[in-house]
Amino acid sequence: MSVPERIKKGTASGSLVRRMFDEGLAFKKKYGAENVFDLSLGNPITEPPMEFKQELLKLAESKSPGLHRYMENAGYVDTRAAIANNINKEAGTKFTENEIVMTCGAAAALNVVLRTILTPGDEVILFTPYFPEYFHYITHHDGIVKTSPTDEQFIPRIDLFEKTVGLKTRAVIINSPNNPTGVVYGEKVLHDITDVLKRKQKQYGTQILLISDEAYSRILFDGLKYQPIWPHYSESIVVTSHSKDLALPGERIGYIAIHPGCTDKDGLLNGFIYSNRTLGFVNAPALMQRIVARLQGISVPASNYQNTRDYLYNSLTEMGYSIVKPQGAFYMFPESLQPDDFAFVSELQQERVLTVPGQGFGTPGFFRIGYCVDNRTLEGALIGFRKVAEIYKI
Ligand SMILES: Cc1ncc(COP(=O)(O)O)c(C=O)c1O
Repeated sequence: MSVPERIKKGTASGSLVRRMFDEGLAFKKKYGAENVFDLSLGNPITEPPMEFKQELLKLAESKSPGLHRYMENAGYVDTRAAIANNINKEAGTKFTENEIVMTCGAAAALNVVLRTILTPGDEVILFTPYFPEYFHYITHHDGIVKTSPTDEQFIPRIDLFEKTVGLKTRAVIINSPNNPTGVVYGEKVLHDITDVLKRKQKQYGTQILLISDEAYSRILFDGLKYQPIWPHYSESIVVTSHSKDLALPGERIGYIAIHPGCTDKDGLLNGFIYSNRTLGFVNAPALMQRIVARLQGISVPASNYQNTRDYLYNSLTEMGYSIVKPQGAFYMFPESLQPDDFAFVSELQQERVLTVPGQGFGTPGFFRIGYCVDNRTLEGALIGFRKVAEIYKI
């Protein structure tokens, strides 16, 4: 018994996204990559903006010594200051470098925050459908997952949320634009969620942190504007990265930002820095920190994703699929054409179209499409979607 039960359990339940990734590889081996239409991932095919390569080349040619050394575990002061300035520009806030910790992407940021804030038995609330990795991160750090449903538009049911928040609630994670639905929370939604949290904090005499995962905050459609959480709630923490907005997921660069007015802000920040170090991240990658400091305010164009959204949404709805129209990110979460979403995804697989069953996101009866793919994949997938839809036509 070399591997403990909790790891065995995690591996076996796995992330369905990851499992689909492995199945995708097997399919590609069997049929040839060009004959498989893989919509199971969130791996941007867009290249980073040209400014990224320019900065990378400048750094490669730089004669400055020490470019590759360790630095403060929170990250370079210059980088944190550039990020704070950008937040202030976008949200009219007064952040300084002291409220920012650089991390190895949003995934590390979430782990650092959860490691720091959770005492065994603390509860963390997720709205369904949720990004599956949250479940593993929370349980890794001895937290208990509580889920709260959304309505038919995937907007949190505030009446039910209110009943889920209890004495043991330590944090709530929100994610807008959302993976897997593409839904964006407007000001009213943010107001309603934080209103409940304010009242519950008072009722229980506890601190309930709101963790806002903003990995897709710059991929917004239809002229929608980014809605910061900061004006709504002082007990809030943003975790984010440049994996999607600068198309750099392999480079592992992101950050944590904590509200300047958060209770015990310094204690939490010191905890984040300690957790960043002792979880073994040590610090975020040095070269990437230097580059993103110069690229704040730049992002890949959302218009390409919006065009794909339009094309895919129009094609699928015309075939009979029922979908909440995404307003951001690069995912769609249509209803499965039969109650068993796993069986439905298997039917799509027979047409060599790879998607992920909704049960992996805590919401059976749906499936997720990641449409950050090239045209060949999209066109091939649409043929498969049509064939399967025709089986269900009455
Ligand atoms: C909602 C959400 N949060 C966090 C992450 C992690 O992103 P990263 O660690 O690359 O920043 C992802 C990745 O797909 C995601 O979809």
